[in-house]
Amino acid sequence: MATKEQINKERLPGHVAIIMDGNGRWAKKRGNQRIFGHKEGVKSVRETVEAAADLGISHITLYAFSRENWNRPKHEIEALMSLLISTIDREIKTLIENNIRLLCIGDITGLPDNVRGKIAEAKKKTENNTGLNLVLALNYSARWELAEAMRNFGNDVKQGRTEDDLDNDTVKKYLTTKDIPDPDLLIRTSGECRLSNFLLWQLAYTELYFTEVLWPDFRKENFYEAIVDYQNRERRFGKTSGQLKDQNESNKKKNNAPHYG
Ligand code: IPE
Ligand code: IPE
Ligand code: MG
Repeated sequence: MATKEQINKERLPGHVAIIMDGNGRWAKKRGNQRIFGHKEGVKSVRETVEAAADLGISHITLYAFSRENWNRPKHEIEALMSLLISTIDREIKTLIENNIRLLCIGDITGLPDNVRGKIAEAKKKTENNTGLNLVLALNYSARWELAEAMRNFGNDVKQGRTEDDLDNDTVKKYLTTKDIPDPDLLIRTSGECRLSNFLLWQLAYTELYFTEVLWPDFRKENFYEAIVDYQNRERRFGKTSGQLKDQNESNKKKNNAPHYG
């Protein structure tokens, strides 16, 4: 496991997205109900958010409930929804004290009224905070988001908007993440190596990090380890390694050039 000191503060990922997975298996391993794992997972959320805020990361997105998760047993869904409410209630003070802004992505209208109300209240209370942006993906699925974007774009065309300028930036404006930068790093716990319908458009050039650690066992040191791993990668965006090295050299020269006047 890594320590905070191993992290290069100059090369932090701006946005880390996390698929928090393995709560059920964590509980089963201990002979407990799955919900016990979800409850324990809240501690990992607290640790991770605290570590991200402390490092000065700008955005962290947590996949908390997918549209596909409605297919789970009713009692588990109900337990997850009430856990969400009690967690927001318990943590709101800490969010405010730590200058954290709460945001949400996903089909919020499809959530129960009491959950929606709680989220709206927490968003309002933290809207002027300027530190870490904590994004909760709730009732989210990437294919739903893309279909919504297409529907909304189609409606705008009907209203007279032209489709000639449709490009990457235009698509972004139609996504629920329109004001959020693309993730630099995606972490998925529990050993599953799949995206489960998460941020399919936004993850186009994201570095992917998979760990066997189950979410309720995930601690600050695991988060630091993912960041250190990320910092050892070369993000080429289609270029060659040689081009990147030349680019770095010329940037260094520019920065070292004497300034006059
Ligand atoms: C992730 O843990 C939490 C949610 C999807 C809400 P799981 O509940 O998926 O745990 P496993 O994958 O069954 O172990
Ligand atoms: C993904 O985990 C969704 C969340 C973490 C909220 P799942 O456990 O639901 O994903 P699958 O079903 O194993 O792909
Ligand atoms: Mg799972």
